[in-house]
Amino acid sequence: MTKRQILVVDDYPNLIEMLTEQLVSDGYNVTTAMTGKEALKTVEAGFLGVILLDVQLPDATGLEIFHQIRASQPLAPVIFITANATLNMAVEATKVGAFDFIEKGPDLGSRLSVAVKNAFNKLAMEEELLNLKSSRSGPNPFPEFITVTPKMQQILETLRSVFNSLASVLIEGESGTGKEVVARGIHAGGNRNLGPFVAVNCAGIPEALLESEMFGYEKGAFTGAVSRRAGKFEAAHKGTLFLDEVGELPKTLQAKLLRVLQDHTFQRVGGTESISVDIRIISATNRDLWHEVQNGNFREDLYYRLAVFPVKLMPLRERPADIPVLAQYFLHRYSEEEGKDIKRFDPVAVQLLKSQPFPGNVRELENLVRHVVIIARGEEISPAELIGALGAHRAQGIPSVESLLMAGSSLQQRLASAFPDKASVAPIKALQLAYFRRALELFDNNISQAASALDVGRATVYRWISDESGE
Ligand SMILES: Nc1ncnc2c1ncn2[C@@H]1O[C@H](COP(=O)(O)OP(=O)(O)OP(=O)(O)O)[C@@H](O)[C@H]1O
Ligand SMILES: [Mg+2]
Repeated sequence: MTKRQILVVDDYPNLIEMLTEQLVSDGYNVTTAMTGKEALKTVEAGFLGVILLDVQLPDATGLEIFHQIRASQPLAPVIFITANATLNMAVEATKVGAFDFIEKGPDLGSRLSVAVKNAFNKLAMEEELLNLKSSRSGPNPFPEFITVTPKMQQILETLRSVFNSLASVLIEGESGTGKEVVARGIHAGGNRNLGPFVAVNCAGIPEALLESEMFGYEKGAFTGAVSRRAGKFEAAHKGTLFLDEVGELPKTLQAKLLRVLQDHTFQRVGGTESISVDIRIISATNRDLWHEVQNGNFREDLYYRLAVFPVKLMPLRERPADIPVLAQYFLHRYSEEEGKDIKRFDPVAVQLLKSQPFPGNVRELENLVRHVVIIARGEEISPAELIGALGAHRAQGIPSVESLLMAGSSLQQRLASAFPDKASVAPIKALQLAYFRRALELFDNNISQAASALDVGRATVYRWISDESGE
């Protein structure tokens, strides 16, 4: 990476020398200019970095130069330097969009270090956002999948070649890495996009129901089958069938699925008629499916049928550059949804975010941002607000609500497996919040709908959240 650039604009040689010395020893690359004209020339030649600008220059005022700099390089944060700061001047400078304002004096040096560091953080964030925008409007094959990480972008790029193919795609990746976003993106980008996208969750449905869910059933096939019902395979005709959590598919259904993929036909449960459908199959798993094949948990022949084109999504911790960009993206979305006007994260909060492990990947980051948006009061998310939200999230890691809702059959059984002993009993508040989050997820983050399914008011939900983060 090249050194970070600073342009110092001042007509006083001693000050230039002093600032340059400090900034160089702080590790920056310093360019200087003694007049407004010189400064503009540098900027117009493509300078991108932080600009320290004297308020009074021989050929113009700093404010005049500031406007001209802005016009040719809107991204570069400008810090004003002045001999005698008046309040008016400070107000004026921030009103026009200066990044900061420093008075010449004994503590110039220490204030400068902080201001410059913050300015570079802001610049980095804006560059990332810009990057994101151009990739979204440009040739990005997955407009819903936000990433600025070159390796991840390459992975998405390779998927472009399967958009219009019938080849089955297997998407592997940890929970919350965006497998479903990618699956939907493949469907949307291909020539089946006018057909349906139908998802089957192979983990969420008991084995006995999964077969009829997939293939449908005939009237009278079993008790309760009062009329014929089409399954997901039929529903996906001319479109895409998404087999989510395919690694959880029971052995009996693995065999059945294999037959369907070989013959391209199937029968409804309790039926004899052969039905053939035109579908494209995309599957996803958070397991290492090949490893499952080695261990004898997944059929090898089925693996090859499903993984004609395998792809693996990177966990968020391996692409930390995506964290600020995703955070800003979710901030914007949830701020709008909550009717708030939150514009950004404080740079320190951004650093804090980047230092988090995020075992739940993008989904965890998204939940965290949604939470902090709800409790935030100002235009900028402060480190304190973020820490509050983080605390509540960590507390929530007690029982996996997902496992609680999935495993076993009766509620009593599910509870017993989630809380096997005294030590596993969690504070009810944390559980409440975790349960509520799960509900939110199921209702696509719609707080009103989730609240209504939980049979509580919106206000109650807000209180849970702010109680949790209030300490
Ligand atoms: N790169 C991304 N850009 C924008 N949103 C994303 C991205 N990755 C994930 N998300 C969001 O994060 C959440 C989780 O994503 P998704 O459901 O696709 O993950 P998953 O890999 O299928 O997780 P799981 O294995 O737990 O089902 C969704 O709300 C999704 O919109
Ligand atoms: Mg998923």
